[in-house]
Amino acid sequence: MKVSCLGFSKICFVLTVCATVLLLALWKQSDLSGLHPLPTCSTSFLGSSHLAVERSHPTLGFHEHEPYGTKAIKPPEGATPGDQQLVRNLLNMDDLFIAVKTTKKYHKSRLNLLLKTWISRVKEQTFIFTDWEDQDLRQKAGNQMVNTNCSAVHTRQALCCKMAVEYDKFVLCGKKWFCHVDDDNYVNVNALLGLLSSFSHSTDVYVGRPSLDHPVETSDKVKGDGSETLKFWFATGGAGFCISRGLALKMSPWASMGNFISTAEKVRLPDDCTIGYIIEGLLEVKMQHSHLFHSHLEFLNRLPSGSVLRQVTLSYGGPENKENVVRINGPFSLEEDPSRFLSLHCLLYPDTAWCLK
Ligand SMILES: *[C@@H]1O[C@H](CO)[C@@H](O)[C@H](O)[C@H]1NC(C)=O
Repeated sequence: MKVSCLGFSKICFVLTVCATVLLLALWKQSDLSGLHPLPTCSTSFLGSSHLAVERSHPTLGFHEHEPYGTKAIKPPEGATPGDQQLVRNLLNMDDLFIAVKTTKKYHKSRLNLLLKTWISRVKEQTFIFTDWEDQDLRQKAGNQMVNTNCSAVHTRQALCCKMAVEYDKFVLCGKKWFCHVDDDNYVNVNALLGLLSSFSHSTDVYVGRPSLDHPVETSDKVKGDGSETLKFWFATGGAGFCISRGLALKMSPWASMGNFISTAEKVRLPDDCTIGYIIEGLLEVKMQHSHLFHSHLEFLNRLPSGSVLRQVTLSYGGPENKENVVRINGPFSLEEDPSRFLSLHCLLYPDTAWCLK
């Protein structure tokens, strides 16, 4: 009896293996037949045909089962499960789409500092969303500068208008991760890649710093009639946040092609808050709270200097919050480098020409 049970389970095992191989082969075939060249970021901004292709991509239904984060990357021969985990989410700079939100007023005072420091390391992946056709900036950033044609006033509508343009450009772009930052953020790209590598871009990921210590409550005016309340967390835009492609595509009914503006109008919430509303409130996907993102509202001088280089984003207080900068010893004095971004950059990339004073 025992032997026959064993024999039966052996047959079962063989059958299961065969069925798996067959299924994989079938899946692979359907996957290949659906392959399409990914649109590049340089495609004309208003061309919308890619969006439809992207939405109907056959692998979208296979999020959890996709064998590796990147199909092109195969685990090396004899790789252990641990190695496979590593290979699975191996990311590189090219997988990122970093949107920097700025405005006319800050092109010189803020953006030049970013262009000189971290953006110089991820030029191709970083897009600057502004509201003014500035020839100086155009010369420096080329097509990486996007004139959103949104209003330059600091109102909810104008900010949502920029977020809407960022979102649409990301979707057309085909990259794995959408990261939004402000023009007073320093992005430590390697730390960012390290963080995002712990997730899969094809699953639902929304990661950033919660702006409050409690979720927001608002009446549900989008899905319901407004009689019920929705509770949701949101990542503060001032510290930067990232969204996986898988999740970004699910947001499309409320975010793409101008829908973001109407969603924000309906709920009367700011841009970053509307993102949280769509993701946590409507899609019921939980935000991942990370304390590696930092806004100018935090007491950044309290960050232990040993941990500064491991943070994903940093910021600095304006003239009214001069104390609110990270404490690091770098080649530049506080007078030469009040934001500390120059020194920070030199500690991260000591080979930078202008760091060798
Ligand atoms: C802004 O307007 C210019 C000129 O009309 C246009 O070329 C550009 O595509 C517009 N930008 C966006 C994001 O729509």
